[in-house]
Amino acid sequence: MNYDWHVVFNLYLVVSLTFYFHFFVMCWIFWYTGSWDTVSVLLHGLQRLEYRWYDSAWLYVTWKDWSHLERAVGKVSELTSRFDQERDVSSYTCWIAHTRWATHGGVTESNTHPHTSNDWKRIIVHNGIIENYSKLKKELIAKWYTFSSETDTEVIANLLQEHATWSFVETVKEVQSRIRWAYAVLILHVDSPNEMVALRLWSPLLFAYNDTNEYFFSSDAQALAWYAKKLIYLEDGDLLHFHTTDAWKDYTIFHNGEVTKRDSETFDHEAMEASKWDFKHFMLKEIYEQPNVLSRVCKWRVSFEDFTLHADAFHGMHQEDYKKIVTVACGTSNYVWRLWTYWIQQLAKIEAQNEIASEYENKPFFVDPRKLHIFVSQSGETADTLSVLKMLQEQWGKSFGVVNVVWSSIARLTDSWFFARAGTEIGVASTKAFTSQSLCMLLLALFLWKRRGMRLSLYQKIMRELEHLPAYIETVLDQSDQIRWIAMQLMQYKDFFFLGRGYQVPIAYESSLKFKEITYLHSEAYPAGELKHWPLALIDENVPTIFILPHDEMYEANISSMQEIKARKWKICVIWDRSVEWSDRQISIPETCDELYPFLTVVAGQLLAYHLADLLENDIDKPRNLAKSVTVK
Ligand code: M6R
Repeated sequence: MNYDWHVVFNLYLVVSLTFYFHFFVMCWIFWYTGSWDTVSVLLHGLQRLEYRWYDSAWLYVTWKDWSHLERAVGKVSELTSRFDQERDVSSYTCWIAHTRWATHGGVTESNTHPHTSNDWKRIIVHNGIIENYSKLKKELIAKWYTFSSETDTEVIANLLQEHATWSFVETVKEVQSRIRWAYAVLILHVDSPNEMVALRLWSPLLFAYNDTNEYFFSSDAQALAWYAKKLIYLEDGDLLHFHTTDAWKDYTIFHNGEVTKRDSETFDHEAMEASKWDFKHFMLKEIYEQPNVLSRVCKWRVSFEDFTLHADAFHGMHQEDYKKIVTVACGTSNYVWRLWTYWIQQLAKIEAQNEIASEYENKPFFVDPRKLHIFVSQSGETADTLSVLKMLQEQWGKSFGVVNVVWSSIARLTDSWFFARAGTEIGVASTKAFTSQSLCMLLLALFLWKRRGMRLSLYQKIMRELEHLPAYIETVLDQSDQIRWIAMQLMQYKDFFFLGRGYQVPIAYESSLKFKEITYLHSEAYPAGELKHWPLALIDENVPTIFILPHDEMYEANISSMQEIKARKWKICVIWDRSVEWSDRQISIPETCDELYPFLTVVAGQLLAYHLADLLENDIDKPRNLAKSVTVK
């Protein structure tokens, strides 16, 4: 027999894609009941599910005999903005949140979950696809049921009405026997607010709880990180009946109609964070986490409504009017400090000194009550940094830490410390730790500046822009494909230059470090003003220059430096916020204030390094000869 291989291949594609869309869940559920700030828990849970595909999001809340629904077609942030910040969260009793990736019916509010039965009594959220929904729908229409959405989910709601009995659970069991996979379903009944039923078949659904009487359902354990202690993975065919009174909360699990017991597992947050999700590398995942990480850094430290910095979050910074601050760190953490010296000197006008830990201990240093040493470290265990800290303590010097690991040595040994809240960083090349630590440092600089009498208009401008920083970073991330294309053009070169001025000098250094660390290609970083002093001797048509050129105060001076390069017809790639006619390639970034540009330009630099290293097929997460935590000297 003669096969047409194109036909065979296309058939294979159709079959495998059908299989894919049948078995892959396209929506994500998060449900919570308990005594915490439910709005924050749910919205945070949804944000942690955002790395999944979705096109609409909603929240449903019950409030004793009252209920409230918010839907948003688009991003979770749109949903967030609809909620009244002044709400009385203590009165809400139960919540469901959901993100949807349209399968049955388009991206419209009417197709967005939850769906209700015709009598408005049953409220359903569903992940998956009900395979026999069109047959069931026809049967229901024949019985005069109407449908307000194009979804298969609405069929479940009306089936529940059709088969209603005296018992909520028995009715659900009956409907469960009629619907064919795949599903994870949560069902509420308006007349029975103290119970809820969950079903699972072929679509993931987790039930979780903790010692303080908080209960959760989620399609993905990511949403549960930091909240739940115990986890039950429901199995195919399971029905979980959750019931409450004012005094207690309890649940019963049925499997194929019979009561069954499922063992709970202790939730491993570290392992959870250690998952790559759908990203090719941890480094890429961590680059993409940055908008969330930066929001987290600000949480409980900044109020954007009135631009206040919560003083109690800055303990350790109150006591003294420091006349000098010395920062001590290694590698990427050292560039955080270099950046900080610009902020603290420009804004708070405090003299700052930046030291590489491995060298600082080789020269005598002086201790003074009005001199503070700040130690920055992602791991909190870096031997060189730790060794300086111990020397300082022997002389009773004052210390402060900015650390990403709570139980680390630097966190324990410093007089006080600031938690960077980046989450576990797995990739050896540090990305989200750099931006989170930098943001911590900026907040510290703003705090000290405020105490010394800041310029109100500039302070307000920075705060206003800070609120939008995560969104600006998203815009840079959206250019990943374009950056990869630029990386492809750069593949033929072996040497590179990174140049910047002012705030962008530490970013040029950091981008060059990242570039070298994972591409193994040679690169140099310099302040652009140095160009004519000697680096021009090295640049020729075989050395592309990556010019970091935001539209800041240094712009005009930078343009002159660029022209010096361009006049010699050498290659220039610019990272900046407007189109420039001299450049060969551009990575554009949104406009913001001078103080915040570093957060945007550094992300563009991270992506450029990542894509080039990936194109070169390097082992990105474990660059040769390097370790994540350098605990030896
Ligand atoms: O854990 P630390 O922040 O103290 O580590 C310092 C350096 O070893 C680290 O930043 C290193 O330079 C990174 N791999 C660079 O991406």
